[in-house]
Amino acid sequence: MKKKVIILTGAGISAESGISTFRDSDGLWEQYRVEDVATHEAYVRNPALVLNFYNERRHQLYEVEPNEGHRQLVRLEKYYDVHIITQNIDNLHERAGSTNVLHLHGELGKARSERDDNLIIEIGDRDIKLGDKAPDGAQLRPHIVWFGEAVPNIEPASHLCEKADYFIVIGTSMNVYPAAGLIHYVPRGVPCYLVDPKAVPISRPIKIVQEKAGTGVKKVVDELIALASK
Ligand code: APR
Repeated sequence: MKKKVIILTGAGISAESGISTFRDSDGLWEQYRVEDVATHEAYVRNPALVLNFYNERRHQLYEVEPNEGHRQLVRLEKYYDVHIITQNIDNLHERAGSTNVLHLHGELGKARSERDDNLIIEIGDRDIKLGDKAPDGAQLRPHIVWFGEAVPNIEPASHLCEKADYFIVIGTSMNVYPAAGLIHYVPRGVPCYLVDPKAVPISRPIKIVQEKAGTGVKKVVDELIALASK
């Protein structure tokens, strides 16, 4: 039975692919106000603006590639039962070849009925425009968790963390809950690793690789593969 490696990723793992993070100096929340583009109220107030914000981010997604950070995580799958819990709405983990990816905040490549959260359709790189309808006849909206909305995948994510034999945090400022609270489900004594060029306050013993994902993830992966090969 392979040991479980649970990995929590954030915008930082996609930064070297060219997708800006949220809270770094050139971050997305420097260019847009959350309350204008990433809340349900914003969508009700100005649906075209919100749809266009996500259409632009979807277009960008198809101009970028996974980076070494995403690719290194795929190496682990030969030696461990790997589950990635990502806050990212991009599909770079999947395009790098990771097979178990749980999205906490939704996915750019999916849309859903305004009326039925469970009526989700794949849209790939297509835009969502006002007037585009879901199969139930309601307006299509991005399958994204906006601030203040429920995070349905937090429950399966917390169960994964409870079963971790190793836990890795990559490229997240741990600012946003409930995602940032997942680390508290990881049992005491489970070896934890952090890959981030900045210092991120984590309230438990954690092995820090203070580097970008493009070089730092390989160091953690090499160490875990060496442990599995003993
Ligand atoms: N490699 C690794 N980490 C990086 C890199 C890099 N090349 N560049 C930046 N980082 C780190 C930053 O130091 C920071 O700790 O990535 C983290 C990015 O933090 P945020 O911008 O806050 O992104 P994230 O933590 O994913 O935000 C969480 O907030 O806006 C919402 O829903 C949105 O999912 C997002 C959530």
